Parts: sequence; C-alpha cells; structure tokens
Amino acid sequence: MDSQITIVDHPLVQHKLTLMRDKEQPTAYFRQLLRETALLLAYEVTRDLPLETKRVETPIEVMDAPVLAGKKLCFVSVLRAGNGLLEGMLDLLPSARVGHVGLYRDPETLEAVEYYYKVPQDIGERLVIVVDPMLATANSGIAAVDRLKQGGARQLKFVCLLAAPEGVAAFTAAHPDVPLYTAALDRELNDHGYILPGLGDAGDRIYGTR
Ligand code: PRP
Ligand code: URA
Repeated sequence: MDSQITIVDHPLVQHKLTLMRDKEQPTAYFRQLLRETALLLAYEVTRDLPLETKRVETPIEVMDAPVLAGKKLCFVSVLRAGNGLLEGMLDLLPSARVGHVGLYRDPETLEAVEYYYKVPQDIGERLVIVVDPMLATANSGIAAVDRLKQGGARQLKFVCLLAAPEGVAAFTAAHPDVPLYTAALDRELNDHGYILPGLGDAGDRIYGTR
C-alpha cells in the first residue's frame, strides 16, 4: 500500500473503534467515542506541525520556549458525518479555523454530489486537514479534495476513521500529495459501496437517523 497512509494503531484508538463497530452501541456512546477517537487522531495528524520559539518569563527566569509557528490550521468537515470527527479535533485545537464541504453519495451511482461549500478565504495559506469518518469508494474524499484544491488549498491531509483498500487506492492515485490517516484499513467494499466489516453508515450512527 502507498507510503502516504498512516494507520493510527494506538491501543486507545483501536479499543474505541471496536466499541464503535458494535451495532448495539447506543447513539450517545457512539458519538462520545467518535469524539474521543478524533482527539487522538488529531494528536497524530498534527505530530509534524512546525514550531518556533517565543520568549516567556517563568516565575524563576526568562526562556525561549516552543510554540506553534505560522497561521492556524483549518479543519474541513465533509458533511455531515465529518462533523462527528470535527468536534473531537476542536477539543484539542480550539483555535483552528473550520470549513465545510457538503457532499452526499448518490445511492445508485455512488458518485459524490456537492450541496455546500464554505471555507476561510485564505485557505491557501493554511494547513488543511479534511475530516470524514469513512473512505469507502473515496468518491467523496476525492471530490472534497478536488474542490478544496480548486479553491486554492495547497497543503492538505485527510483523516478518516475507517478506510477500504479500494478507497485508499483510488484516493492515493487521485491525490498522491495528500497524506492519509486512518484508524483501520478494513477488508473490502460490498456491492452497495459499504465498508466490510465496517461500522455501517457513519452519519446514521452519529445522528441516530436509522
Ligand atoms: C458517507 C461518509 C463519506 C462517504 C464515504 O457519507 O461520511 O462522506 O459516505 O463514501 P465514499 O468513499 O464511497 O464516497 P454519506 O454520503 O453517507 O453522507 P452523510 O455524511 O451526509 O451521511
Ligand atoms: N459511508 C458510510 O457511512 N459507511 C460505509 O461503510 C461506506 C460509506
């Protein structure tokens, strides 16, 4: 598989993911687990953020201490399930900027259909972290990144919770410059484009719509 993919195999991430896969997990717990997992994924995806130093005065002496350098990063949530990941990421980076790309998957063709787009004007000057729990065919992820690149984004990463091998192959072929982070790489897609074994429809699990 492509070197651009990072599987976040931290035991806490793996444990929480297993709890989320359980179809009996109530909506409130699923949402809470996703929020907690998102925070851990955010920790991993921000591991290489650049630092600079800032002079601070401790109660004892003055020092030059590390702080994040450059403009605040921008999360972009792929609606609607992306919002389930976004919340936990904002717990860790509360000052981040946020954009939204509204996409739904046509159930017949599995093509992504855009219905909303709003991102910060200066997106080209920020690290953009696109968040969507599921990378199945990758039609949605590819469309979101296509749209963001058209809108000027230049440095992007993509974070999901679950990916299918078919989706990873399609995504890395379309956007080899965009590193991919996932908690797990599942076995395959079924005939309806659902990830196996997966966790079902992420939006429905987060919002209790089915
Ligand atoms: C889900 C998911 C992804 C997409 C993944 O969204 O959140 O955006 O499917 O599938 P793909 O990789 O085959 O494109 P869905 O279209 O169900 O919309 P929702 O988030 O509004 O529920
Ligand atoms: N979208 C989901 O929410 N789940 C899948 O398994 C595939 C696409």
